Amino acid sequence: KEIVLSGIRPTGKLHLGNYFGAVTNFVKMQHEYNCFFFIADLHSLTTHPTPTDLNGYVKNVLVEYLACGIDPEVATIYVQSDVPEVTELYLYLNMNAYMGELERSTSFKDKVRSNPDNVNAGLLTYPSLMAADILIHRATKVPVGKDQEQHLEMTRTFGNRFNRLYNADYFPEPFAFSYSENLVKVPGLDGKGKMGKSEGDANCIYLADSPEVIRKKVAKAVSDGGPTEENQPKPEAIQNLFDLMKIVSSADTLAHFDELYNKCGIRYGDFKKQLAEDMIVFNSPIRERILEISADTDYLRQVAQRGAEKARISARQTLKDVRELIGFKPF
Ligand code: TYM
Repeated sequence: KEIVLSGIRPTGKLHLGNYFGAVTNFVKMQHEYNCFFFIADLHSLTTHPTPTDLNGYVKNVLVEYLACGIDPEVATIYVQSDVPEVTELYLYLNMNAYMGELERSTSFKDKVRSNPDNVNAGLLTYPSLMAADILIHRATKVPVGKDQEQHLEMTRTFGNRFNRLYNADYFPEPFAFSYSENLVKVPGLDGKGKMGKSEGDANCIYLADSPEVIRKKVAKAVSDGGPTEENQPKPEAIQNLFDLMKIVSSADTLAHFDELYNKCGIRYGDFKKQLAEDMIVFNSPIRERILEISADTDYLRQVAQRGAEKARISARQTLKDVRELIGFKPF
């Protein structure tokens, strides 16, 4: 079976972007492939979370993975820092990751722009850590949203470079994966760009949001004065809301509002109400399971422990091979 790996940073609650960009594919892939899904706690250290926040967020992602339907009996779920082999591979990959290419990474440039006071080495070498996550299990399929595509390209570069340097055909090439035709980018509620935590809480619908919160957030979503001419293309903010509707609502509902828009008969109040209700219907079962599972700390501990054991078996094998290729051998 092909090996699949993906992860999410524990920076808070999962939102619809995480779900439709990544987790929905995790849930489907687990029955078809040999899957590893992890919680990227080392990656989240770039922003210096407090120990309490970090610990709570890690637990949170674990709970939400399970609530979304990842089955620990089928897939391996683990916390990144429980598998120290990853950090050793990260060190080796860093030796062949060049300053120029790391600095050119779009996500690095974005971080430098948005937070110029915290441009640390971990941020610069984020792509090598991500490559280590993937290559440690020699994964070939990586279910992620559109924003991770460049990181996958860098992973292939680092893996191929390692292969060339040690004259070995060792690491296979991993590719971003989605069951949908294209990689997904879920828009936020702020009228521009993607749904994301760094874009602010009001921009995100979290899986754990209550119906009340969802209604409020959607009611406040950026829109405009409405179409003035029939059959015109939609401005970005409106298109984003339609894209969200496409994700959570039925095809009939979407077609209905699309027609109203084209005939200049749309009332954004009604449109948003419908969108909010459909989000609530989508979220409710997941939200219920989140509340249930998070109470069961023993179970969570056991899932994480077993996951780490399984992940380490695979990671140790890779590291053993890698050390040998590098030349760390007994005399
Ligand atoms: P992170 O934690 O930012 O996001 C987790 C996953 O959610 C997807 N995603 C989205 N997809 C569509 N639309 C959105 N608005 C949206 N927001 C987030 C992301 O594409 C991602 O799949 N670097 C990664 C974590 C990581 C990783 C890995 C992933 C570390 N090592 C190895 C795969 C393999 C990240 O920061 O994702």
